[in-house]
Amino acid sequence: MRIYHAEHYDDMSRKAANILSAQVILKPASVLGLSTGSTPVGLYRQLAEWYRKGDVDFSGVTTVNLDEYQGLAPDDPQSYARFMRENFFDHINVKRENTHLPDGLAADAERECARYEAILRDSGGLDMLLLGIGHNGHIGFNEPGGAFEKGTHLVTLTQSTIEANQRFFPSADDVPRHAYTMGIRSIMQARTIVVVVSGASKAGIVRRAFAGPVTPEVPASVLQLHNNVILVGDREAMKQLRIEN
Ligand code: PGA
Repeated sequence: MRIYHAEHYDDMSRKAANILSAQVILKPASVLGLSTGSTPVGLYRQLAEWYRKGDVDFSGVTTVNLDEYQGLAPDDPQSYARFMRENFFDHINVKRENTHLPDGLAADAERECARYEAILRDSGGLDMLLLGIGHNGHIGFNEPGGAFEKGTHLVTLTQSTIEANQRFFPSADDVPRHAYTMGIRSIMQARTIVVVVSGASKAGIVRRAFAGPVTPEVPASVLQLHNNVILVGDREAMKQLRIEN
């Protein structure tokens, strides 16, 4: 694992954006795995700024997002499809038909998971996957206690994730109970994984994920078994992590 220490959120965002833009510059037809959440917002903003300045071109890129709520339409204000458009896709020149998310409105969940796995396979696999980590160690919606060998599947959200995501909804009752997510198997097949973490509230889970035992109880701990992980964290998020760099 390579670790990049950043001072604060903006510094982390810039460092991680540099890594993603280097990927796209070196391989213009890159397949990028992308995430939602608060952590990547600054990074997307930075990449959009570099696009506007002409420094990076996304016209050949394919994107495959990690997850989506079941039951939300792509234009629902809380859907991840909408998040991605507002925070990233509307500001760069990626071709809309080359951006993929699970379809929250799919009638048949099993078929939707198979469709998504086929997208991953047919794209040639993820060159670089951007990941945040939840306070309970989840990656995507792979919650503690789940199996490591799964591909894309439908999950029931844990109470802690519902509570964490409530901030985006009028109330906890409005948070969908189910979501599609790439499984740990799909995640581990990415050639490079970039993990972004920021803020003191992530310090404990960063330590457990990267310096603790590999266990399904901390899904992110499986990343210790991947041979090409880049961790970019700011000072507050990294303050409990003491491992050889
Ligand atoms: P956050 O979410 O970036 O909003 O902290 C991370 C996650 O839950 O995966």
